[in-house]
Amino acid sequence: MASNKKLLVLPGDGIGPEVMTQVRRVVDWFDTRQAVGFDLEEDLVGGAAIDKHGVPITDATMDKAMTVDSVLLGAVGGPKWDDLPFEVKPERGLLRLRKDMQLFANLRPALCFDALVSASTLKPEVVSGLDIMIVRELTGGVYFGEPRGIENLPDGSRRGINTQVYTTPEIVRVAQVAFDLARKRGNRVCSVEKANVMESGVLWREEVSKLHAAEYNDVELSHMYADNCAMQLVRDPKQFDVIVTDNLFGDILSDTAAMLTGSLGMLPSASLGGIDAQGRRKSLYEPVHGSAPDIAGQGLANPIATLLSFAMMLRYSFDLGSDADLVEQAVQNVLNSGKRTADIVAPGSERISTGQMGDAILAELDRLAA
Ligand code: IPM
Ligand code: MG
Repeated sequence: MASNKKLLVLPGDGIGPEVMTQVRRVVDWFDTRQAVGFDLEEDLVGGAAIDKHGVPITDATMDKAMTVDSVLLGAVGGPKWDDLPFEVKPERGLLRLRKDMQLFANLRPALCFDALVSASTLKPEVVSGLDIMIVRELTGGVYFGEPRGIENLPDGSRRGINTQVYTTPEIVRVAQVAFDLARKRGNRVCSVEKANVMESGVLWREEVSKLHAAEYNDVELSHMYADNCAMQLVRDPKQFDVIVTDNLFGDILSDTAAMLTGSLGMLPSASLGGIDAQGRRKSLYEPVHGSAPDIAGQGLANPIATLLSFAMMLRYSFDLGSDADLVEQAVQNVLNSGKRTADIVAPGSERISTGQMGDAILAELDRLAA
């Protein structure tokens, strides 16, 4: 029997811990019921780490993240820590994980579940059957570019600076991920930048085109300006298969894409690094939604996005596609049965709590595996 997978679980803040509690039940279910086993270790990130250690992630936690097989994260942040200096805000814990683990490719699928078509703010015919994948560059661009900061000017006013910067290798490696994914899906990639105003966008477009010509000319490639892409996502999202874009545009466009599907509470994400000499790839999985402090601790949160993030881990990190299918099928069946958490409740559906959603999914897993 294969050795256990080592997982670092970082529930974080707000609704993070309560959704993670439900996901841990599913991990335990796999541990006892399926061929795959997990060794779980739980630790602090974000505001929870600030409260205990004064920093949003400790070096010791980082060391664990660097050595485990994969990391599962809940969410970070909340009003309690809003006034802290920038460098020690909860979000810096997440950004350090991404940067130090070199997780340059962020996969954000936007999938519209049939049962939730009516939960979208868009017309059903625009979103039904929607299945797009946004590949967001995650360790470069304006999020990390230097120089950055706020400086005082001689006249007493101030200047805030951030730098958008990309190099050839940074563009090529994330584009490769997008092209490889497209080959397993609809075989189309749309590369998104602002080449009309930014040199980094001109370079992005040129490098993606070069890579395409050299290695991926079997994949259909198009280019789009980011503002147009935002508009097209709302006008006709089904025109897209895979979108590849930089860190900041990807942050914005993935929120738009997420909302097309009816609920942020449904969408998972994977953040992947390069493949090392041992053939291993660092990875972190997290829901697209945030810590939602306003609804934390009330049983209102939807655990599905984090659960589907675990399913992505099974698929992308452990090559356990059929186990991932099982989780996704269980989620689908529970939704089809009309059970809904508060965020996706609709007339005629049955409103249930975070924990009851966990119960329903576990019962469905039992049924499917029987
Ligand atoms: C995201 C979030 C983060 C980001 C924040 C929490 C730092 O919005 O993962 O999309 O901007 O990348
Ligand atoms: Mg975001």
